[in-house]
Amino acid sequence: MKAAIQFKQVNYTIDHKEILKQISGSFYDGEITTLVGPSGAGKTTLLKLCNGLLSPQSGEMYLYERRIEEYDPVELRRKVGMALQSAPMIDGNVYKNLSLPLELQGQQLPKDRAKALLEDVGLTEDLLQQDIRDLSGGQRQKVSIARTLVNRPQILLLDEITSSLDFVSQKEIEELIVSINRKYHVTIVWITHNLQQALTVGTYTWVMMAGEIIESGGSELLRSPRTERVRQFVKGELQ
Ligand SMILES: Nc1ncnc2c1ncn2[C@@H]1O[C@H](COP(=O)(O)OP(=O)(O)OP(=O)(O)O)[C@@H](O)[C@H]1O
Ligand SMILES: [Mg+2]
Repeated sequence: MKAAIQFKQVNYTIDHKEILKQISGSFYDGEITTLVGPSGAGKTTLLKLCNGLLSPQSGEMYLYERRIEEYDPVELRRKVGMALQSAPMIDGNVYKNLSLPLELQGQQLPKDRAKALLEDVGLTEDLLQQDIRDLSGGQRQKVSIARTLVNRPQILLLDEITSSLDFVSQKEIEELIVSINRKYHVTIVWITHNLQQALTVGTYTWVMMAGEIIESGGSELLRSPRTERVRQFVKGELQ
C-alpha cells in the first residue's frame, strides 16, 4: 500500500529529553489511522512533525515519497491540514472564520464554496452569518473541520477533536471523519483517548507509550494486544 507519510527511525528530543524514539512506520494513503496512548506518550508531538510544526533531530520523514524538508512550508501547511480540540477561532461570523486560510494567502473564499464546505460537515448555510460565539461545541468543531478543508488538503491531522463534546456530537464528528475520508479520499490521522472510537472510525491504530510505538496495525489489535503493556492499557476500555 502507498504511504502518505512514512517515518524511518525518527527521533525527537527537547532539552536532551527523548520525546519520540525510533519511530518507523507509515500512514497509508487514503486511510484513517488512529493514534492512542496514555497522556504524554508523544501523540501530539508526532502529529506536529507531520505538518512541519516540528522537525525531527534525526531519522527521515517522507510525504508521498519526498523528504518532508524539501517541501516549502506554505505548501506543506496546505497539503496537511490540522484541527485541534480547542478549535481556535477569530472574532466574527462563521464565514470570516472559514475564509481565514485563504485570506492569509491574499485570496477570497467564494460564498458558494463556503456554503458547500458547511454542507460537507453537516451544517446549514444559514450559519454563515452567525457569530462564532453563538455556536455549540459540536458546531464549532465542525466549522474547525470545514476550515481545514478550504485548502483541499491531502492529509488531515485531528488532535482530540471529540474530547470536549457530548455523546451525540461525538458520534456526529465520528461520522464526519469517515464521510470526509470517503468523499475526498483524504488521508486522516487522528488522536483520541476513546478506544471505542479507534475501533469504529480508524482502519489502522498505533498505540504509543513513552515516545515509542508499542503496537501498530489493523485497529482490531486493540481487542487482542500482543504485549502486556497494551493489554493493561486497553483493559476495561472496550466492551
Ligand atoms: N515544548 C515542550 N517542552 C518540553 N516538553 C514537552 C514539550 N512539548 C511536549 N513535551 C513533552 O513531550 C511528551 C509528549 O507530549 P505530547 O503532548 O506529544 O503527548 P500526548 O501523547 O499528546 O499527550 P496527551 O494525551 O496528554 O495530549 C510529554 O512528556 C510532554 O511533557
Ligand atoms: Mg496530545
